[in-house]
Amino acid sequence: MSVNRPAAVVVLAAGEGTRMKSKTPKVLHEISGRSLVGHVVAASRELDPEHLVVVVGHRSEQVTAHLTPADDDRLRTAHQAEQKGTGHAVRIGLDELGGAVEGTVIVVCGDTPLLSGETLRALAATHTADANAVTVLTAEVPDSTGYGRIVRDPADGAVTAIVEHKDATDAQRAIREINSGVFAFDGRLLADALGKVRTDNSQGEEYLTDVLSILREAGHRVGASVAVDHREILGINNRVQLAEARRLLNQRLLEQAMMAGVTVVDPASTVIDATVTYERDALVHPGTQLLGTTHLGEDAEVGPNTRLTDTVVRAGARVDNTVADRAEIGEGAMVGPYAYLRPGTRLGTKAKAGTYVEMKNATIGEGTKVPHLSYVGDATIGDHTNIGAASVFVNYDGVAKHHTTIGSHCRTGSDNMFVAPVTVGDGAYTAAGSVITKDVPPGSLAVARGQQRNIEGWVARKRPGSGAAQAAQAATSERNSES
Ligand code: UD1
Ligand code: MG
Repeated sequence: MSVNRPAAVVVLAAGEGTRMKSKTPKVLHEISGRSLVGHVVAASRELDPEHLVVVVGHRSEQVTAHLTPADDDRLRTAHQAEQKGTGHAVRIGLDELGGAVEGTVIVVCGDTPLLSGETLRALAATHTADANAVTVLTAEVPDSTGYGRIVRDPADGAVTAIVEHKDATDAQRAIREINSGVFAFDGRLLADALGKVRTDNSQGEEYLTDVLSILREAGHRVGASVAVDHREILGINNRVQLAEARRLLNQRLLEQAMMAGVTVVDPASTVIDATVTYERDALVHPGTQLLGTTHLGEDAEVGPNTRLTDTVVRAGARVDNTVADRAEIGEGAMVGPYAYLRPGTRLGTKAKAGTYVEMKNATIGEGTKVPHLSYVGDATIGDHTNIGAASVFVNYDGVAKHHTTIGSHCRTGSDNMFVAPVTVGDGAYTAAGSVITKDVPPGSLAVARGQQRNIEGWVARKRPGSGAAQAAQAATSERNSES
């Protein structure tokens, strides 16, 4: 166990976020595959804390429901009924843990999705190494409007206080070093100091930031750790900042993928979620979105213009101009261009779902091909079978969905309708244009279409003088002169 392992992380997420102008609580807005608070919780988990408390308030049921499914019994929520300030919120969080905690307590805000686990670890390490009572993560920002300013002692540079923008003098407002809202505290000293925080400020709130000067005045060590990149502590208050955070996070995630050996042809037009995984030599063409738990195997090639959600692409598969959701694409399989793979599609090794092919809840065997213009729904197809162009698996009778089973080494004709439930045995053939309503035994040829009838001379009689009649006349005399 790391010596820097914190006793607790408290995530503040009770605020409404009015500037989002949204019916959704601010911390539940999503970027890069996670909610804002989800990103903060994920970074917090990297510290491996003994306890993880999220303070919820505004629409707390919704936020709590969103947080709980992660089957982590260390994560708890604490309810702050009224938002009386960040100090009050931390007090509520500590109450959930019995009032005070022995060891380091990290406090983070739920609206800083770019904050990395690495930065939190560095903060915890500095805090422990310097034996501080409190260590605040600060940053130099181009525009410090709205932030709490870090006030330092002119003599030794030590942090003496944090002054909120609204309470600051003009001289203090000129300070560019700001409070990120992320702190490491000694748990006991934090609990004591929170009891001394007053509300005589412009907002009438209990400021967590006051703990810093309270501890310093009591003779404890106060430290600061400057964030390497000020963009990491960007707090989201409106949708312009939300878009900016998405852009920055997406760029960071793509850089991680590239450093891990993935070729990203055009990062500017590529979208990747934080939860996507990949292996080396995967290649991503422009206009591609990799979402959710999507995985790219070694040498997999996807895009251009492809959206994959919770989809597994195995090694060497090729996916071109495709939309896939909860699908599994086998090793060396080919998909698209212009395919739509819906939930439950499982393509075997070297299988193919070609151009204008839609699949849903279908298992396609090894080397089996559905090359053109087809719908395959609720089906199982064996290995090395070829499905003719323009085939439809007729799975819906208007009331219920039914299953079609096609064996291995089958050759089904073009323009077939498989009216489910129906089974085609191994090695069977079907004729083009067939409507297959009855099971086909293994090795047979099924023909299920009207017999062709040619009515000779029909055009000359019914469409005399037409272009068709003239062409027919010319063809007939040519044939007669040849014979
Ligand atoms: C806070 C800091 C400020 C810092 C800035 C960084 C204080 C007093 N000020 O200001 O120094 O520069 O963050 O972004 O701490 N929250 C609760 N319950 C409350 C109040 C707030 O859970 O009663 C949560 C909010 O949901 C939010 C976070 O705490 O996630 C910060 O609150 P916010 O009101 O945004 O504080 P700022 O004014 O931005
Ligand atoms: Mg804020």
